[in-house]
Amino acid sequence: MDTPAAAAPAAVTPVVYGASDRPPRGDYSRGGVVQADYTCPQDWASYTAADHDTYKRLYERQAAQLPGLACDAFINALPLLGVKDRIPRFEEINERLHRATGWEIVAVPGLIPELPFFTLLANRKFPVTDWIRKPEEFNYIVEPDVFHDLFGHVPMLFDPAFADYVQRYGQGGIKAHELGAGEKLARLYWYTVEFGLIRQPDGLRAYGAGILSSVGELQHAVCSNEPHRLPLDLLRTMRTLYKIDTYQANYFVIESFAQLFDLTAPDFTPLYRALEVESDIPAGVLLPGETGKA
Ligand SMILES: [Fe+2]
Repeated sequence: MDTPAAAAPAAVTPVVYGASDRPPRGDYSRGGVVQADYTCPQDWASYTAADHDTYKRLYERQAAQLPGLACDAFINALPLLGVKDRIPRFEEINERLHRATGWEIVAVPGLIPELPFFTLLANRKFPVTDWIRKPEEFNYIVEPDVFHDLFGHVPMLFDPAFADYVQRYGQGGIKAHELGAGEKLARLYWYTVEFGLIRQPDGLRAYGAGILSSVGELQHAVCSNEPHRLPLDLLRTMRTLYKIDTYQANYFVIESFAQLFDLTAPDFTPLYRALEVESDIPAGVLLPGETGKA
Protein backbone atom coordinates (compact mmCIF):
# COMPACT_ATOMS: atom_id res chain seq x y z
CA MET A 1 0.00 0.00 0.00
CA ASP A 2 2.94 2.32 -0.63
CA THR A 3 1.75 3.67 -3.94
CA PRO A 4 -0.83 6.43 -3.90
CA ALA A 5 -4.01 5.54 -5.73
CA ALA A 6 -3.90 6.52 -9.38
CA ALA A 7 -7.49 7.69 -9.13
CA ALA A 8 -8.56 8.56 -5.61
CA PRO A 9 -12.15 7.52 -4.83
CA ALA A 10 -14.44 10.50 -5.03
CA ALA A 11 -18.18 9.93 -5.00
CA VAL A 12 -19.34 7.43 -2.43
CA THR A 13 -22.78 5.88 -2.38
CA PRO A 14 -23.30 3.91 0.82
CA VAL A 15 -25.85 1.56 -0.72
CA VAL A 16 -24.95 -1.33 1.51
CA TYR A 17 -26.15 0.35 4.65
CA GLY A 18 -29.26 1.98 3.24
CA ALA A 19 -29.84 5.10 1.25
CA SER A 20 -28.85 8.31 2.97
CA ASP A 21 -28.60 11.92 1.89
CA ARG A 22 -25.74 12.52 4.28
CA PRO A 23 -22.23 12.38 2.88
CA PRO A 24 -20.40 9.45 4.48
CA ARG A 25 -18.22 10.25 7.45
CA GLY A 26 -14.51 9.64 7.10
CA ASP A 27 -11.59 11.16 5.27
CA TYR A 28 -11.46 9.66 1.78
CA SER A 29 -8.46 11.68 0.63
CA ARG A 30 -5.84 11.12 3.36
CA GLY A 31 -3.13 12.65 1.26
CA GLY A 32 -3.57 10.11 -1.50
CA VAL A 33 -3.15 6.90 0.49
CA VAL A 34 -6.66 5.62 -0.22
CA GLN A 35 -6.44 3.14 -3.08
CA ALA A 36 -8.84 2.80 -6.00
CA ASP A 37 -10.48 -0.15 -4.21
CA TYR A 38 -11.03 2.14 -1.17
CA THR A 39 -8.55 0.33 1.05
CA CYS A 40 -5.92 2.28 2.95
CA PRO A 41 -3.40 1.69 5.72
CA GLN A 42 -4.94 1.60 9.20
CA ASP A 43 -4.05 4.98 10.63
CA TRP A 44 -3.11 3.48 13.98
CA ALA A 45 -0.71 6.24 14.96
CA SER A 46 -3.50 8.80 14.87
CA TYR A 47 -5.54 7.12 17.62
CA THR A 48 -5.50 9.13 20.82
CA ALA A 49 -5.55 7.79 24.38
CA ALA A 50 -9.24 8.75 24.44
CA ASP A 51 -9.86 6.68 21.28
CA HIS A 52 -8.25 3.61 22.82
CA ASP A 53 -10.21 4.17 26.01
CA THR A 54 -13.48 4.37 24.04
CA TYR A 55 -12.70 1.04 22.39
CA LYS A 56 -11.78 -0.55 25.72
CA ARG A 57 -14.98 0.60 27.40
CA LEU A 58 -17.16 -0.45 24.47
CA TYR A 59 -15.50 -3.87 24.41
CA GLU A 60 -15.96 -4.40 28.14
CA ARG A 61 -19.61 -3.37 28.13
CA GLN A 62 -20.50 -5.44 25.11
CA ALA A 63 -18.54 -8.57 26.08
CA ALA A 64 -20.37 -8.65 29.41
CA GLN A 65 -23.71 -8.91 27.60
CA LEU A 66 -22.89 -11.84 25.34
CA PRO A 67 -23.58 -14.96 27.43
CA GLY A 68 -26.96 -16.42 26.54
CA LEU A 69 -27.49 -13.89 23.74
CA ALA A 70 -24.61 -14.27 21.25
CA CYS A 71 -24.09 -17.47 19.28
CA ASP A 72 -21.38 -19.92 20.31
CA ALA A 73 -19.28 -19.26 17.18
CA PHE A 74 -19.05 -15.59 18.09
CA ILE A 75 -18.29 -16.10 21.77
CA ASN A 76 -15.64 -18.71 21.02
CA ALA A 77 -13.88 -16.53 18.44
CA LEU A 78 -14.01 -13.20 20.25
CA PRO A 79 -10.70 -13.77 22.13
CA LEU A 80 -9.02 -14.13 18.73
CA LEU A 81 -9.37 -10.37 18.27
CA GLY A 82 -6.52 -10.15 20.80
CA VAL A 83 -6.03 -7.04 22.88
CA LYS A 84 -9.10 -5.61 24.61
CA ASP A 85 -7.70 -2.52 26.21
CA ARG A 86 -6.79 -0.64 23.03
CA ILE A 87 -7.73 -0.61 19.36
CA PRO A 88 -5.96 -3.62 17.84
CA ARG A 89 -3.60 -3.33 14.93
CA PHE A 90 -5.30 -5.06 12.01
CA GLU A 91 -2.17 -6.98 11.06
CA GLU A 92 -2.17 -8.69 14.48
CA ILE A 93 -5.67 -10.03 13.85
CA ASN A 94 -4.86 -10.96 10.27
CA GLU A 95 -2.17 -13.41 11.33
CA ARG A 96 -4.79 -15.47 13.17
CA LEU A 97 -7.70 -14.86 10.80
CA HIS A 98 -5.81 -15.84 7.68
CA ARG A 99 -4.63 -19.03 9.32
CA ALA A 100 -8.19 -19.89 10.38
CA THR A 101 -10.24 -19.20 7.25
CA GLY A 102 -8.07 -17.47 4.67
CA TRP A 103 -9.82 -14.13 5.30
CA GLU A 104 -8.10 -10.86 6.06
CA ILE A 105 -9.37 -7.50 7.18
CA VAL A 106 -8.47 -4.35 5.28
CA ALA A 107 -8.81 -0.77 6.48
CA VAL A 108 -11.19 1.60 4.70
CA PRO A 109 -11.98 5.26 5.50
CA GLY A 110 -15.71 4.55 5.99
CA LEU A 111 -18.66 3.31 3.97
CA ILE A 112 -17.76 2.33 0.44
CA PRO A 113 -19.88 1.86 -2.69
CA GLU A 114 -21.45 -1.49 -3.35
CA LEU A 115 -19.26 -2.78 -6.18
CA PRO A 116 -15.91 -2.28 -4.39
CA PHE A 117 -17.57 -3.68 -1.26
CA PHE A 118 -18.78 -6.82 -3.04
CA THR A 119 -15.41 -7.20 -4.78
CA LEU A 120 -13.47 -7.12 -1.50
CA LEU A 121 -15.77 -9.74 0.01
CA ALA A 122 -15.48 -11.95 -3.06
CA ASN A 123 -11.71 -11.89 -2.48
CA ARG A 124 -12.05 -12.76 1.23
CA LYS A 125 -11.14 -9.26 2.32
CA PHE A 126 -13.39 -7.64 4.89
CA PRO A 127 -13.41 -3.83 4.93
CA VAL A 128 -13.05 -2.39 8.42
CA THR A 129 -13.54 1.33 9.03
CA ASP A 130 -10.53 2.56 10.98
CA TRP A 131 -11.92 5.62 12.80
CA ILE A 132 -13.68 5.37 16.14
CA ARG A 133 -16.72 7.22 17.46
CA LYS A 134 -16.40 10.22 19.74
CA PRO A 135 -17.10 9.75 23.47
CA GLU A 136 -20.44 11.55 23.10
CA GLU A 137 -21.48 8.87 20.58
CA PHE A 138 -20.66 6.06 23.01
CA ASN A 139 -24.17 4.61 23.04
CA TYR A 140 -25.21 5.10 19.47
CA ILE A 141 -23.58 5.80 16.13
CA VAL A 142 -25.31 5.88 12.76
CA GLU A 143 -22.39 4.74 10.61
CA PRO A 144 -20.16 1.78 11.35
CA ASP A 145 -16.89 2.62 13.11
CA VAL A 146 -13.92 0.45 13.99
CA PHE A 147 -15.68 -0.96 17.05
CA HIS A 148 -18.73 -2.08 15.10
CA ASP A 149 -16.68 -3.50 12.26
CA LEU A 150 -14.07 -5.27 14.38
CA PHE A 151 -16.03 -6.44 17.39
CA GLY A 152 -19.28 -7.05 15.50
CA HIS A 153 -18.07 -8.66 12.29
CA VAL A 154 -14.62 -10.12 12.57
CA PRO A 155 -15.19 -12.93 15.12
CA MET A 156 -17.76 -14.52 12.79
CA LEU A 157 -15.19 -14.61 9.98
CA PHE A 158 -13.31 -17.23 12.03
CA ASP A 159 -16.26 -19.63 11.45
CA PRO A 160 -15.52 -21.58 8.24
CA ALA A 161 -19.13 -21.95 7.03
CA PHE A 162 -20.02 -18.34 7.77
CA ALA A 163 -16.78 -17.12 6.19
CA ASP A 164 -17.61 -19.06 3.03
CA TYR A 165 -21.09 -17.55 3.01
CA VAL A 166 -19.74 -14.00 3.13
CA GLN A 167 -17.41 -14.70 0.22
CA ARG A 168 -20.26 -16.20 -1.78
CA TYR A 169 -22.37 -13.17 -0.91
CA GLY A 170 -19.67 -10.93 -2.39
CA GLN A 171 -19.49 -13.03 -5.55
CA GLY A 172 -23.26 -12.85 -5.89
CA GLY A 173 -23.11 -9.14 -5.18
CA ILE A 174 -20.92 -8.45 -8.19
CA LYS A 175 -23.50 -10.20 -10.34
CA ALA A 176 -26.39 -8.40 -8.63
CA HIS A 177 -24.67 -5.11 -9.31
CA GLU A 178 -24.50 -5.93 -13.02
CA LEU A 179 -28.19 -6.86 -12.97
CA GLY A 180 -29.22 -3.74 -11.06
CA ALA A 181 -30.32 -5.86 -8.10
CA GLY A 182 -27.77 -4.64 -5.54
CA GLU A 183 -30.36 -2.97 -3.35
CA LYS A 184 -32.43 -6.15 -3.06
CA LEU A 185 -29.36 -8.24 -2.28
CA ALA A 186 -28.27 -5.69 0.32
CA ARG A 187 -31.39 -6.63 2.28
CA LEU A 188 -30.07 -10.17 2.57
CA TYR A 189 -26.80 -8.83 3.99
CA TRP A 190 -28.74 -6.66 6.37
CA TYR A 191 -30.89 -9.47 7.70
CA THR A 192 -28.05 -12.00 7.94
CA VAL A 193 -24.57 -10.51 8.38
CA GLU A 194 -25.88 -7.43 10.24
CA PHE A 195 -29.01 -8.59 12.04
CA GLY A 196 -29.16 -12.37 11.77
CA LEU A 197 -30.39 -14.78 14.45
CA ILE A 198 -29.54 -18.49 14.65
CA ARG A 199 -31.36 -21.25 16.49
CA GLN A 200 -28.95 -23.20 18.69
CA PRO A 201 -29.96 -26.28 20.73
CA ASP A 202 -30.10 -24.00 23.77
CA GLY A 203 -32.21 -21.31 22.11
CA LEU A 204 -32.10 -18.33 19.80
CA ARG A 205 -28.82 -16.45 19.57
CA ALA A 206 -27.50 -13.48 17.62
CA TYR A 207 -24.81 -13.73 14.96
CA GLY A 208 -25.42 -10.37 13.20
CA ALA A 209 -22.87 -7.63 13.82
CA GLY A 210 -25.46 -4.88 14.12
CA ILE A 211 -26.97 -6.74 17.07
CA LEU A 212 -23.72 -7.92 18.63
CA SER A 213 -22.17 -4.46 18.67
CA SER A 214 -25.28 -2.68 19.94
CA VAL A 215 -25.79 -1.84 23.59
CA GLY A 216 -29.53 -2.45 23.60
CA GLU A 217 -30.40 -4.54 20.58
CA LEU A 218 -29.03 -7.84 21.88
CA GLN A 219 -31.82 -8.15 24.43
CA HIS A 220 -34.40 -6.76 22.02
CA ALA A 221 -33.47 -9.13 19.20
CA VAL A 222 -33.10 -12.31 21.21
CA CYS A 223 -35.48 -11.95 24.16
CA SER A 224 -38.15 -9.28 23.57
CA ASN A 225 -41.66 -10.23 22.48
CA GLU A 226 -41.86 -7.02 20.46
CA PRO A 227 -40.11 -7.88 17.14
CA HIS A 228 -41.27 -10.52 14.70
CA ARG A 229 -38.97 -13.45 14.04
CA LEU A 230 -39.36 -15.25 10.74
CA PRO A 231 -37.58 -18.22 9.19
CA LEU A 232 -35.03 -17.03 6.64
CA ASP A 233 -36.54 -17.26 3.18
CA LEU A 234 -34.68 -15.54 0.37
CA LEU A 235 -37.69 -14.02 -1.39
CA ARG A 236 -39.33 -12.87 1.85
CA THR A 237 -36.10 -11.41 3.16
CA MET A 238 -35.25 -9.53 -0.01
CA ARG A 239 -38.76 -8.05 -0.13
CA THR A 240 -38.46 -6.70 3.39
CA LEU A 241 -37.51 -3.10 4.07
CA TYR A 242 -35.38 -2.35 7.11
CA LYS A 243 -34.79 0.33 9.70
CA ILE A 244 -31.47 2.11 9.91
CA ASP A 245 -32.16 4.29 12.94
CA THR A 246 -34.10 2.08 15.38
CA TYR A 247 -34.04 -1.54 16.53
CA GLN A 248 -35.25 -3.91 13.84
CA ALA A 249 -38.96 -4.74 13.76
CA ASN A 250 -38.29 -8.19 12.31
CA TYR A 251 -35.44 -10.64 12.34
CA PHE A 252 -34.82 -13.69 10.18
CA VAL A 253 -33.74 -16.93 11.82
CA ILE A 254 -31.43 -19.61 10.41
CA GLU A 255 -30.83 -23.13 11.70
CA SER A 256 -27.12 -23.31 10.85
CA PHE A 257 -24.44 -21.47 8.94
CA ALA A 258 -24.31 -24.38 6.50
CA GLN A 259 -27.98 -23.64 5.73
CA LEU A 260 -27.06 -20.05 4.96
CA PHE A 261 -24.25 -21.14 2.67
CA ASP A 262 -26.45 -23.69 0.86
CA LEU A 263 -29.31 -21.21 0.43
CA THR A 264 -27.06 -18.91 -1.53
CA ALA A 265 -25.63 -21.58 -3.86
CA PRO A 266 -28.18 -21.16 -6.70
CA ASP A 267 -28.05 -18.43 -9.31
CA PHE A 268 -30.23 -15.58 -8.00
CA THR A 269 -31.23 -14.31 -11.45
CA PRO A 270 -34.73 -15.94 -11.34
CA LEU A 271 -35.15 -14.58 -7.83
CA TYR A 272 -34.41 -11.04 -8.98
CA ARG A 273 -36.98 -11.46 -11.75
CA ALA A 274 -39.54 -12.62 -9.21
CA LEU A 275 -38.73 -9.64 -7.01
CA GLU A 276 -39.51 -7.24 -9.84
CA VAL A 277 -43.19 -8.12 -9.60
CA GLU A 278 -43.37 -8.49 -5.82
CA SER A 279 -44.07 -5.44 -3.67
CA ASP A 280 -41.74 -4.43 -0.85
CA ILE A 281 -42.91 -5.37 2.64
CA PRO A 282 -42.55 -2.65 5.29
CA ALA A 283 -40.50 -3.59 8.35
CA GLY A 284 -42.68 -5.12 11.04
CA VAL A 285 -45.53 -6.21 8.76
CA LEU A 286 -46.55 -9.88 8.69
CA LEU A 287 -47.99 -11.60 5.63
CA PRO A 288 -51.10 -13.84 5.89
CA GLY A 289 -50.17 -17.10 7.58
CA GLU A 290 -47.02 -15.74 9.27
CA THR A 291 -46.88 -15.83 13.05
CA GLY A 292 -43.65 -13.94 13.53
CA LYS A 293 -42.67 -16.50 16.18
CA ALA A 294 -39.94 -18.45 14.41
FE1 LIG B 1 -21.73 -3.83 9.79
